[in-house]
Amino acid sequence: MKKVLLIISGGIAAYKSLELIRLLKQSYQISVRCVLTEAGSHFVTPLSLTALSGDRVFSDLFSPTDEQFGHIQLSRSADLVVVAPATADIIAKLAAGLANDLASTLLLATDKPVVLAPSMNVKMWEHPATQDNIIRLSSRGTHIIQPEEGDLACGEQGAGRMAGPEVIAAEINRLIVGINLKPLKGLKAIITTGATQEMIDPVRYISNHSSGRQGYSIAESLAFAGADVTVVSGKTNVIPPNGLKVVHALSAIDMLQACEKLLPADIFVGAAAVADWRLDKILSQKIKKTAGTDKLQLNLVKNPDIISVIGHLRDTIRPKLVVGFAAETDDLVSNASRKRLEKNCNWVVANFVYQPENVFDNTHNTVTFITEKATESWPRMNKKQVADRLVARIVEFFKK
Ligand code: CTP
Repeated sequence: MKKVLLIISGGIAAYKSLELIRLLKQSYQISVRCVLTEAGSHFVTPLSLTALSGDRVFSDLFSPTDEQFGHIQLSRSADLVVVAPATADIIAKLAAGLANDLASTLLLATDKPVVLAPSMNVKMWEHPATQDNIIRLSSRGTHIIQPEEGDLACGEQGAGRMAGPEVIAAEINRLIVGINLKPLKGLKAIITTGATQEMIDPVRYISNHSSGRQGYSIAESLAFAGADVTVVSGKTNVIPPNGLKVVHALSAIDMLQACEKLLPADIFVGAAAVADWRLDKILSQKIKKTAGTDKLQLNLVKNPDIISVIGHLRDTIRPKLVVGFAAETDDLVSNASRKRLEKNCNWVVANFVYQPENVFDNTHNTVTFITEKATESWPRMNKKQVADRLVARIVEFFKK
């Protein structure tokens, strides 16, 4: 199990760290050990932290009872050190190299990556001293999770609100997965994404609104976790991230053939919005708007269902994990669960098309994650975070 050492310093956002602990443990299977500063103890109690983390809480630099957990050992006992909330004070201490309590000493002593989630009043955040410290820390490799803009606890408005626990947890998971172990190293993944285009004639085609963003995010997260990833991409406006292998395939038939060529694979994720129908015969000449005809009839035939073909491959060649998507306008869970069974997918990531704004070409997504055993509603996140959370589950799957 991966471990985070979570330092909670004295900001009102400390209450969000309780949820952060719960999320890290439950959603990402990351264990958490807490260090509470003296100022932090005015906002949350050691008892709450112990109850949620299942571990004792450390506060005292000179504790005679904590010998086996001296500050050096403690600072090395985790895979990542996170400060959330990170006050202007602790940020300044770390930038200056001060070490006069347990938290600041750990931050200097650690040989692990450090993540800060700043939280403070807008003026404090924008103060040149704080901004200089942030720049200095970033340039030394400290990872900063930018605070959000909005209403602040002090009644003012602006940047300084600590990022939400969901955002911080997803980022911690992404860093832990990537920094340490490349847990999917040695596994091959195929991802379809984007919209297919079914030609009608040399100038027209049938397609849909899919942007390909969610699929590319998943591909990036899988690659970050060490998998050997190939994206089979339909039409998309995403610029493929550097280093990803991309095969372009516009029609459903081309996409299926490209996927079959890439087999065998361990992981198959079908994020593409594949047209269910194509023209029975693509016309070689442009259809003319002939005078006198008010109607045009096109004969469509059914496309192969790519993920169903992959899902139903015989066991020796079927990827061990097949993940489908389901875009629905109604009866989300029942439709998506039916698709999971019919297409023989291990999991389905289902989302409403209207959330309430259209999910296509949107940066965010609200999904329901459906497995054989459970149906989980994930909170609204950006598509990168959905990808990271899905990849965390994929890592778990292959661990077993
Ligand atoms: N899919 C596929 N090949 C198709 C159609 C869909 O591989 N010809 C995959 C998609 O990539 C997705 C899943 O099937 O992983 C569900 O796609 P979706 O469009 O939600 O459902 P459909 O099966 O097309 O069903 P319907 O249009 O009736 O909702």
